[in-house]
Amino acid sequence: MENKKYYITTPIYYPSANFHIGHCYTTVIADSIARYKKQQGYDVYFLTGSDEHGLKIQKKAEESGVTPQEYVDNIIADAKDLWKSLNIEYDKFIRTTDDYHVKTVQQIFKKLYDQGDIYKGEYKGLYCTPCESFWTETQLVDGKCPDCGRDVNEVSEEAYFFKLSKYQDRLVEYIESHPKFIQPVSRKNEMINNFIKPGLEDLCVSRTTFTWGIPVSFDDKHIVYVWIDALSNYISALGYLSEDDSLFKKFWPADLHIVGKEIVRFHTIIWPCLLMALDLPLPNQIFGHGWLIINGGKISKSLGNYRDPREYISEYGVDAIRYYLLREVPFGSDGTFSEELLITRYNTDLANTVGNLVNRTLSMLTKYFDGVIEKSDVKTEFDEDLINLVTKTEEKVNNYMEKLEIPEALDSIFDIFRRCNKYIDETTPWILAKEENKDKLKTVLYNLLESIRIGAIFLNSYLPETSKEILRQLNTKETTYESIKTFGLLESGIHINDFKPIFMRVEKKDE
Ligand code: MSP
Repeated sequence: MENKKYYITTPIYYPSANFHIGHCYTTVIADSIARYKKQQGYDVYFLTGSDEHGLKIQKKAEESGVTPQEYVDNIIADAKDLWKSLNIEYDKFIRTTDDYHVKTVQQIFKKLYDQGDIYKGEYKGLYCTPCESFWTETQLVDGKCPDCGRDVNEVSEEAYFFKLSKYQDRLVEYIESHPKFIQPVSRKNEMINNFIKPGLEDLCVSRTTFTWGIPVSFDDKHIVYVWIDALSNYISALGYLSEDDSLFKKFWPADLHIVGKEIVRFHTIIWPCLLMALDLPLPNQIFGHGWLIINGGKISKSLGNYRDPREYISEYGVDAIRYYLLREVPFGSDGTFSEELLITRYNTDLANTVGNLVNRTLSMLTKYFDGVIEKSDVKTEFDEDLINLVTKTEEKVNNYMEKLEIPEALDSIFDIFRRCNKYIDETTPWILAKEENKDKLKTVLYNLLESIRIGAIFLNSYLPETSKEILRQLNTKETTYESIKTFGLLESGIHINDFKPIFMRVEKKDE
């Protein structure tokens, strides 16, 4: 198990007073993958944070009558509060205004300048302020920004450039020879055919038209382009170029950068070329996920079609939200979010399948055996099928997680609970009780409780609160990941704890 490290990152978020459920998507997925890898024995480092520079922030601060630093300081606590309410267990939260990050970005810029990969020139181009992106005439759609559809402005200024074009051939070669580097494959093809093969132009990496950013250390009227600033977080967070770079040595290269599809371009073109220029290894994988769509459109602050995710959490519980985000959307594709769909998922899978199973089983144990779990040697004809399914689950989950097919991984865990419900129908414990068939009844309840125990341990990566509560109700000490490998470890003779339904059915709201 030693020497297995796993470095996973989310994008760093623009500080916002208005986080919506779409923002939670990347982070909940990254959190579940990080927890899963930890469960597998990896030494995991999970990074998230905030991307605090740029004209957009400067303008917002001006509108609010505060300095940009005050503006970001005021809202950053809210982001941390949101991640806490979603049970996100990150190892580090980086802010691009942190001193160490600022210093590293300046060092990177200087290093690239000194080695000739960054040079001074003049920039003339089209800039989309909300997206902080430059576009060429041919990339515009109907004269507007191809990402957000808004107007772009023509700008002309003295600027520094990064020699992106120099790395084009190496980048194509790398992508082609590392089929897992960009996932899903559709995004890889899009990047190669639409962006890289038509030709990479040198990238403008400094601005002089605003001040809220990291100054170029040797020419401080220039501010480092926000994407160079932001992408560098993945290495500055680990102490790259600092006195203590032990984390960097241990964790770089990243194993997985999870990003939304609209920023795959930055992560698979600018970022690898920057790393090549720094002579650093490239990340193992960049996974571009789809968007969560609401009412047919992207959820967005400017459209105002969202509620604060914490409202859903207080209404349905954190695991209902985590479950929805992890289960509903095929990873890589777009998916829909609506409260109605959330309630349907909640009732069908959480309340009916798991909640009801656990409650029913513990109620029967209380009624027939005073709440004491006991093994017996008598078998029923249905045991083998149940036990087979439970013991094959680990392999299935691992195969799906390897491909980051999280909905499928979660569904194979839920197969355990569905199989248990079927086992109850098959074995009819209430009839066994009437027939005074106590030994058979013990076996049935033991097999159910043991399957529930194993299912609950699997759930820990995805629905940590639910997992913990089920294991508490069972009152078992067999809660390690290793313990799922053997069916039958649930202790005989223990008394279950007090219990109540974990998920109560909710009624659909009127339109
Ligand atoms: N600051 C940049 C990232 C820099 S990384 C070096 C940024 N920030 S963001 O706040 O706009 O977005 C953060 C993440 O949230 C992105 O991965 C983005 O795709 C994701 N999402 C924002 N809205 C979303 C949905 N409606 N659905 C799914 N993910 C969404 O981009």
